[in-house]
Amino acid sequence: MTFVKLTPAIITELRGSLGPEAVVTDEETLRICGRDETEDLSFPPEAVIRPTTADQISSVFRIATRHRIPVTPRGGGTGLSGGALAVHGGICLSLDKMNRILEIDEKNFQAVVEPGVITQLFQEEVEKRGLFYPPDPASRGSCHLGGNLAECAGGPRAVKYGVTKDYVLGLEAVLPSGEIIRTGGRVLKNVSGYNLTQLLIGSEGTLAVITKIIFRLIPFPRKRKVLLVAFNTIEDAASCVAAIFQRGVTPSALEFMERSAVRAAEERLGKKFPNGDAEAQLLIEVDGNADEVLDTDIAIIAEAIEEHDPADVLLAEDAPKVADVWALRRSMGEAVKSYSAYKEEDTVVPRAQLPQLVTGVKQICAKYGVTSICYGHAGDGNIHVNILKEGVDDATWEKNLDFAIREIFELTVSLGGTISGEHGIGYSQRSYLPIALSSAELGIMKEVKKAFDPNGILNPGKIFVD
Ligand code: LAC
Ligand code: ZN
Repeated sequence: MTFVKLTPAIITELRGSLGPEAVVTDEETLRICGRDETEDLSFPPEAVIRPTTADQISSVFRIATRHRIPVTPRGGGTGLSGGALAVHGGICLSLDKMNRILEIDEKNFQAVVEPGVITQLFQEEVEKRGLFYPPDPASRGSCHLGGNLAECAGGPRAVKYGVTKDYVLGLEAVLPSGEIIRTGGRVLKNVSGYNLTQLLIGSEGTLAVITKIIFRLIPFPRKRKVLLVAFNTIEDAASCVAAIFQRGVTPSALEFMERSAVRAAEERLGKKFPNGDAEAQLLIEVDGNADEVLDTDIAIIAEAIEEHDPADVLLAEDAPKVADVWALRRSMGEAVKSYSAYKEEDTVVPRAQLPQLVTGVKQICAKYGVTSICYGHAGDGNIHVNILKEGVDDATWEKNLDFAIREIFELTVSLGGTISGEHGIGYSQRSYLPIALSSAELGIMKEVKKAFDPNGILNPGKIFVD
């Protein structure tokens, strides 16, 4: 695909259509929008456009189509696969000004929002009304709901409550042609035509730009308690996970953290937690409305834990202690990355296969002489594998990293899993997608892309190798 560079004449045309303020070209803004939280990637766009309406986005697309300029949508810039980066240059469409919560419908347990709303702000607003929006990615303090839809974000609570897609009833979106479409609606059931809502969710901003979201909400569970369980081996921790569910309890979070991940988070927080020396820990949360129910669940979970040789079990019951434990887990991603150059993988397998995944990852990394730090959403079988360059020379890193990643993904797929659970394929994982999908599957996906975006101007260079 050949694209055209943004000329001063095209920038003048964009300003004429959107207003002078809406098109930004200063170097600092371009530099910031050239990055997200994916490794050390940097792809500054040629201009940043900050629309306030769907109609403005239509205008951008009409001009971009005429001139063959790539358009890359951007939310909070917290992505972990480079999905929001303008890898072919062109326009970065930053949705940060479309940040209104338009309605919270308490009678129907629904909300209508624009894509630029920060996830945590939305959670807090609905919570004030006794409602719950469960998806809670680690970046929830700065990520946008639109970006969460683009990547189908998950987070720790997905194990009980599901991921972003499970809370979206309908959308308004702008197609690359400039047409505005509405999908789904304010109903809990809907089989009127293909499910375009769910097609757009997780499509990583490659099919359309979401401009309005109708969410489904649920009642807010008023109580939560957390167990922090230390184990002497990674295998004990990993095999305890499926055993907990088999007892008939679904925790509201079940997170795995290996020792090096806990250490990194402790250093970042400047605070020691008990059992920092244990080889692995599980963070297990239960929630609900009645203490007795939570206590019964905890007693059942404790039976499963006892069968897996725990080194120590701690219970956090009051809100500040629960928050403390979550601070440890939530700071982990940032903390691990600050160690050295790294590559982060987002492996996911059926949860009973978790022990084979984590031990396999360790063996593969040892074989290629690289360090791995694993943590993540064990209850979902979703483990973030950070491969660190630390102590490895440049030549070995260049040579071995790709081999190690391919073997990890082949193992993941052989266990019935796939190569991304919640971070997406974006730019950084696209060469690995054929490990998970057949050519027929990739072929039909590329046809879908063409149907939405025949000129290939929307977020090019993502998901598929060009
Ligand atoms: C987390 C992010 C990295 O789970 O997905 O912390
Ligand atoms: Zn995660």
